[in-house]
Amino acid sequence: MSGHNVWTHKGTFLLAAVGSAVGLGNLWRFPYLTGENGGGAFILIYALTIFAVGIPIFIAETMLGRTSRQSPIMGMRHLTKTHKTSRAWESIGWLGAAAAFLILSFYSVIAGWALHYTWLMLTGSLVGADATTISAGFVALLASPGLMTLYHTLFIAFSALIVGLGIHKGIESGLRIMMPALFAILIVVLIYGVINGDVGAAANFLFTFNIADLSLEGWLQAMGQSFFTLSLGMGAIMAYGAYMSSEASLTRTAIAVAFVDTAIAMVAGLAIFSLVFGAGLETDQGPGLMFVTLPLAFADMPFGALVGGVFFILVLGAAISSSISLIEPVAAFLVERFDMTRPQAVTIMVVAAWAMGLLTVVSFNVWAEGTIFHALFERSAFEFIELLTNIFMPLGGLMIALFAGWALTQSEVMKELGTNITWFKTWRLLVRFVGPAAVSFVFLRTIPQVEGYVVPTLGALLIVGVFALSQRLRKSA
Ligand code: TRP
Repeated sequence: MSGHNVWTHKGTFLLAAVGSAVGLGNLWRFPYLTGENGGGAFILIYALTIFAVGIPIFIAETMLGRTSRQSPIMGMRHLTKTHKTSRAWESIGWLGAAAAFLILSFYSVIAGWALHYTWLMLTGSLVGADATTISAGFVALLASPGLMTLYHTLFIAFSALIVGLGIHKGIESGLRIMMPALFAILIVVLIYGVINGDVGAAANFLFTFNIADLSLEGWLQAMGQSFFTLSLGMGAIMAYGAYMSSEASLTRTAIAVAFVDTAIAMVAGLAIFSLVFGAGLETDQGPGLMFVTLPLAFADMPFGALVGGVFFILVLGAAISSSISLIEPVAAFLVERFDMTRPQAVTIMVVAAWAMGLLTVVSFNVWAEGTIFHALFERSAFEFIELLTNIFMPLGGLMIALFAGWALTQSEVMKELGTNITWFKTWRLLVRFVGPAAVSFVFLRTIPQVEGYVVPTLGALLIVGVFALSQRLRKSA
């Protein structure tokens, strides 16, 4: 089928999926969004959506990739034909490609910051520095669009090189060492935080909640983050599923990925907030959070320059293994659809994302305020792009859930899932109802005008909508 080879080793998909899932989403985005949204309530919504919505959709997404054995867009086309459903479902692939562009554009800029800090660590520039100095250094980085563009360019070019040469599969073996190493250093930072910071205040902040504290947009951000951190809803996992061996268990793999991913985010969060409370820093300082707190620990601990240098190299590795999973699906599509060579396809994708990334670069300096984005959406271009991805990923996930649960021929789905009937039915309940209901609930909640009517609206919408949609979009039963 379409020349896709299958990873020979069963565990390779798991490794690749962990490589995609674990990245800046865990280390940078999770702590900063949690801090901005007041802690526990955000984590509660995030964790609930991971387990009730994320895992079932993860299973659905790998399943779609594995049955079609093609890139997401072509794979969706193939499935709509073989299962005789509406071609409208192909939009899942397109929506995913759009999301990948948007995510990659800012992802690379933030990874560029990690590059900057790798340099600062290894040169020992921050040894002994205090919080004020470190914060000032970060502010100076943000004030320099030139420097940020340079790092952004380096990072995206390097990711492109790996995917363009087709050596990303070889990279996965490196992850076998890097992932545990990253986890080990996070534990070291956490121990440092326990001794020198305020782990009690951090735990209190992260694990006690008042759900009323969560703003309307906080709900959307928490759900968006659960999709973001698992790389869900845009075809990345589908693209990797295309290489997955037919014997591997979809369910066990999904649970393992979610578990590892959540563990890393939690340890990172606990370590970072121990330092935040210990040093009396602001929890809601935004995207810079990780970059001003962790260097503080490395500045002070023995061999901090070395430990910090290795840490930021590992962060870069985790970011690269994620960014290649953003490039791969779109590149594979361009290759399959337009007969391009791999390097051509990757170049087109990456140059476009690079250019869009410049919007994120300027959002932190020359365009920090007073732009059209501020006038129309009350936020910077970067924040607007993040908002879009927070909508696109759950939307893509919602459609994947509906497609897998309703539109596909269910006997085939059951065969592909290869589990017993009880779990199959449970999973199907989750993707047919629970996932779509949860995503719709959060979407509705985010619109202030409907706040009081969410539950009744949702009930009506769900009963009418899901049935009508599924029957209409499904030509043959
Ligand atoms: N999950 C990655 C992280 O947490 C980011 C990522 C990689 C991603 N590929 C994706 C997010 C696809 C959404 C979709 O850093």
